[in-house]
Amino acid sequence: MPRHVKPPHTALTRSPAWRALAAHRRDWKDRHLRDMFAADPGRSERFSRSVCGLFADFSKQRINDETLRHLLALAGERGACDRLAAQFAGEKVNFTEKRAALHTALRAGEAAPREVQRTLQRMRAFSEDLCGGRVRGGNGEPLSDVLSLGIGGSALGPAMVSAALAGDGAPRVHYASTPGAPLRRLLATLDPARTLVIIQSKSFTTEETMRCAGSARQWLAQAPGNAAQAQLAAVTAAPDAARAMGIADDRMFPMWDWVGGRYSLWSAVGLPAMIALGAARFDALLRGAAAMDRHAAGAAPQDNLPLLLALLDLWNVNFLGATTRAVFAYEPGLGLLPDWLQQLEMESLGKSVNRRGKPLRHASGAALWGGRGTEAQHACFQWLHQGNHAMPVEFVACAAPFADDDGSHALRLAHCFAQSSLLMRGLQPGETGAAGALAAHQGLPGNRPSTTLLLPRLDAESLGALLALYEHRTALAAALLDINAFDQYGVEHGKRLAQNLLPALSGEPVAMPDASTAGLIAEVRKNLET
Ligand code: F6P
Repeated sequence: MPRHVKPPHTALTRSPAWRALAAHRRDWKDRHLRDMFAADPGRSERFSRSVCGLFADFSKQRINDETLRHLLALAGERGACDRLAAQFAGEKVNFTEKRAALHTALRAGEAAPREVQRTLQRMRAFSEDLCGGRVRGGNGEPLSDVLSLGIGGSALGPAMVSAALAGDGAPRVHYASTPGAPLRRLLATLDPARTLVIIQSKSFTTEETMRCAGSARQWLAQAPGNAAQAQLAAVTAAPDAARAMGIADDRMFPMWDWVGGRYSLWSAVGLPAMIALGAARFDALLRGAAAMDRHAAGAAPQDNLPLLLALLDLWNVNFLGATTRAVFAYEPGLGLLPDWLQQLEMESLGKSVNRRGKPLRHASGAALWGGRGTEAQHACFQWLHQGNHAMPVEFVACAAPFADDDGSHALRLAHCFAQSSLLMRGLQPGETGAAGALAAHQGLPGNRPSTTLLLPRLDAESLGALLALYEHRTALAAALLDINAFDQYGVEHGKRLAQNLLPALSGEPVAMPDASTAGLIAEVRKNLET
């Protein structure tokens, strides 16, 4: 395993492969994917990979063999795979916070650290007792519901996995991130005598989560018996703060500083998902992710799927001018995947300084957005097809239907494949069937890149592999871009400024950061006083 991996001595934009890509880019301006497919029957096979059961078709990306050759050369020059190996080996790759990023250790099974195995065993025992009706409320009743309170990485992962694979049995698992009316409305549907509240917060200081926790504790206090004591649990890296809130040690599950929030699904943050899925399926999720870990660590670069996808993102952003990537889930259960992915990629790759602390001379991560297919076809696909921003698109679908199917699965797949084909081929005016000027309005430029990721079916193992694929793609992208994927100072500053402004909204004198903010707060105060 490599010793500490030092940053390459040349700037990324000065590396030979980068220069070759810049020269190669100039050949691209008149090439259309439609013509490349027509001239190269073997294209779709050469630019597809099957990995851990997932089928990835990136043949509709604007590349050819030469592009891929230069991109792989760049990965070699930048030591991207060595950086990933160092991360897997526990190096402090999160160099600003002097921490490792060892979320892979959470799914290492028997090879996992003792504290990980012990925590997983506690999670399984608690989850099985809860699902078996052996965990009782303050007045002795079995628990029918679980409410998980958290935000960002303390919610998006477990909520997305629960939405994908939750069983129908008790207890039902709910997620809340927003204090106030949304939480009140949800609590009104639950029974305070039969609900377990899990407070998920690594820092145990996040304002939204702490306010939700305060409201939930008041709500529990309505129930007879000592509900607050019996029906509260916490997942945190700050046990003293949780204890101060009255949470018993046997209801506390640890988080570690070597697991970033957006990479923490596999840790005790996954407890509500384990309750929703059952311990056996949560273990299958871990197995699927572990299989992708082995692939990412051992595959040859030209077959390393997370590396290939990271390289394509770099090509689209730094050479084809893309500023966003849109991800659409054409499987109803994966509707929350874009939300989870948005935090993973934008908190990891939303950086502008390299490992030496110097401003980047290249673009870092693109904005990640998306939604559910086919609903999104009735919202943003017009822009994707005929707007004059050619942005890359990613389609995630499942070959087999999730459960008994009424034919709608085939409909979704037909739409998914039709969209990516039309984005690529376009529709020339002469193909629209319209005449004259109308033909111009009905034409589609095409040449819009997309990748399609096909799971065999929506099951825990396939989903685990998919999510780990995205984690490694993100880490490899950061290695290529020479940035730290694992800190998030930008959001930390925002939280602090919000804390300073809060008293001003209730009229207390606070130093304003700028005239605009002062004017906005004055406007709010004025409305409150009328
Ligand atoms: O969004 C900023 C962030 O710190 C995320 O990285 C984290 O997942 C989220 O807030 C919640 O933080 P905590 O788990 O400490 O409440």
